[in-house]
Amino acid sequence: MIIAVDGPSGSGKSSTARGVATRLGLQYLDTGAMYRAVAWSVLESGIDADDAEAAATRARELRLEISTDPRHQVVVADGTDVTEAIRDPRISAGVSRIAATNLAVRAELIRRQQALIAAAKPSGGMVVEGRDIATVVATDAELKVVLIADQDARMARRKAELSDGAVTSEQLRDQIVRRDADDSTVAQFLVASDGAVTIDSTYLSLEEVIDVICRLAKE
Ligand code: CDP
Repeated sequence: MIIAVDGPSGSGKSSTARGVATRLGLQYLDTGAMYRAVAWSVLESGIDADDAEAAATRARELRLEISTDPRHQVVVADGTDVTEAIRDPRISAGVSRIAATNLAVRAELIRRQQALIAAAKPSGGMVVEGRDIATVVATDAELKVVLIADQDARMARRKAELSDGAVTSEQLRDQIVRRDADDSTVAQFLVASDGAVTIDSTYLSLEEVIDVICRLAKE
């Protein structure tokens, strides 16, 4: 079974998708981590993020290994463990510039994502999280979930995630609101999703959201 979990920044989709995969014994794929790894590599190589051609070439050349175990996430890019580095605010701030508008980068990562999903099918399936999973990457997913939450709740969650506490509410608002705007082209795929169940997690705990999705998966 393939379960697609799409949603904006701070909607809780990573924790939710990992929780669902763990409970149902499925593999897990964080497609955002793949876009982050490409952004990391582009920055690291000194490539101008607005040079679409160069960024696409980098994406195609990148040796990317991503674990699909929901309890153990590791991302390795060209032999370097970037699991932590791709969460750096510098990457969060720059990733959408490469991910949202560069169709050649998207095509390359979608191809790799589809290969990972196909490889997971014989062992039971996968929970795949992102923004265009139900509409583009895995249109035949058995269950399609769009996770939403209001902006204040999403900012509060993001703040709790950032361990150093150095970020101000204003910076946080800027990150969430601006990334929503940057990702709006991707979000349009999300809105068009057919047969998706929308879950508003604003007033739900993580466990409650996981429960709802697991129940839907068993229907
Ligand atoms: O968890 P968070 O919302 O911070 O972002 P993420 O899932 O790590 O994804 C980082 C960025 O990658 C997003 O802001 C999008 O620009 C891009 N992305 C995408 O375009 N398509 C996806 N399927 C997943 C992520």
